[in-house]
Amino acid sequence: MFIQPVKGVKMEMVVPGDKSISHRSIMLSSIAEGESKIYNFLMGEDCLNTIDCFQKMGVEIVMGREYIKVGGVGLRGLQRPEERLDVGNSGTTIRLLSGILAGQNFDCEITGDASIQKRPMDRVIQPLRQMGADIYGLEKENYAPLAIKGKGRLKGIHYEMPVASAQVKSAILLAGLYGDGRTSLREFQQSRNHTELMLKYMGGDIEVKGLEVVCRPVEKLQAREIFVPGDISSAAFFLVLGSILDDGEIRIKDVGLNPTRTGIIDVLLQMGANIEVMHKKKCSGEQMGDIRVKRGMLRGIEIGGEIIPRLIDEIPAIAVAACFAEGTTVIRNAEELKVKESNRIKAMVTELKKLGAFIEETKDGMMIQGGKALRGGRIESYQDHRIAMSLTIAGLASKEGVEIDNPECVAISFPTFFDIVAKIMKNK
Ligand code: S3P
Repeated sequence: MFIQPVKGVKMEMVVPGDKSISHRSIMLSSIAEGESKIYNFLMGEDCLNTIDCFQKMGVEIVMGREYIKVGGVGLRGLQRPEERLDVGNSGTTIRLLSGILAGQNFDCEITGDASIQKRPMDRVIQPLRQMGADIYGLEKENYAPLAIKGKGRLKGIHYEMPVASAQVKSAILLAGLYGDGRTSLREFQQSRNHTELMLKYMGGDIEVKGLEVVCRPVEKLQAREIFVPGDISSAAFFLVLGSILDDGEIRIKDVGLNPTRTGIIDVLLQMGANIEVMHKKKCSGEQMGDIRVKRGMLRGIEIGGEIIPRLIDEIPAIAVAACFAEGTTVIRNAEELKVKESNRIKAMVTELKKLGAFIEETKDGMMIQGGKALRGGRIESYQDHRIAMSLTIAGLASKEGVEIDNPECVAISFPTFFDIVAKIMKNK
């Protein structure tokens, strides 16, 4: 697919529903009691795989035009799936679901695509085993496919988290619903807290004290109406585009503004971006609002430490912004990027170099000398949605455009991405 360069953009848009919240909405409504209605659910491949897994466990999930209807079966109502559950490319599905499956009364197997089978699962296997779960890699230790022999009831534990990961935290909290008492954990850095918020919203017993989260089992979770805000991780690509194009103004409506996710806004502002957040409101326990971005004269900055979990998925897009910023940008403490859908450090460094960027890989991130225009060229997506979309933004802002191989992976999180890009290219 060829991405032709554009000079400017003036546009108002919405981005699809938040991926993290969409996954959780299906999982929690499935084990709640009663009928939940989910509005603005992300129809991306990852979230559709979560739906498929719960349908295979007997949950009635109906996709309507306006909302998704989930017939909750209660904490103890899931049925043994007749076949192996398949999460496709979705790390959130396999890790969170492992926590739920560990507490069931049946055995099952769970797997995913080639990328999932290479991603570390020991980070959930270890704490779940401490809770008494019987979970192991069927072919290779600590990798999918996983077998989970349901124990019915788990032990409440305290867990000190060695990685800042919302997926691990959520797996433990969900397993805690099946615990014999209090389950607690301490994060070393705050990661996204959608599971805590949604559990509370649906009647869970969750207590948060700084970096410590405590979950106590409840008799039931209550079905609710859930409105999923737009995904700030999808909005991020256009926040970067609006900041780097000569002539631009983009407004994005109804975007999730949970503070554990807004690191991208903080970093772009610190780089000198012209961003304004408006019309803030609260919806189904989450914050949301509109964002307006115009060109800013960006400068390089240092990014590392506690902000990393608040922008982990946006680092590929930030690398593109850094190419257009005067001076040097250094991204540190981002080793987690090596175990995402692809090695995102290597992918961005290799591909941006092909476009003419001055960028080097470091041991835990990257260093970018910005301020010189990107030429353009032919690049590869590594079948990783966020790499494909970040490089598309680089292409729109480049001199000659880019040819992207394997762009279809954007359907994982942002199926309408190229429709928006086509509009931008048409209006030039
Ligand atoms: C997610 C957590 C993050 C993030 C992923 C979604 C979630 O992963 O990168 O895209 O929904 O909990 P980690 O928990 O592994 O950091």
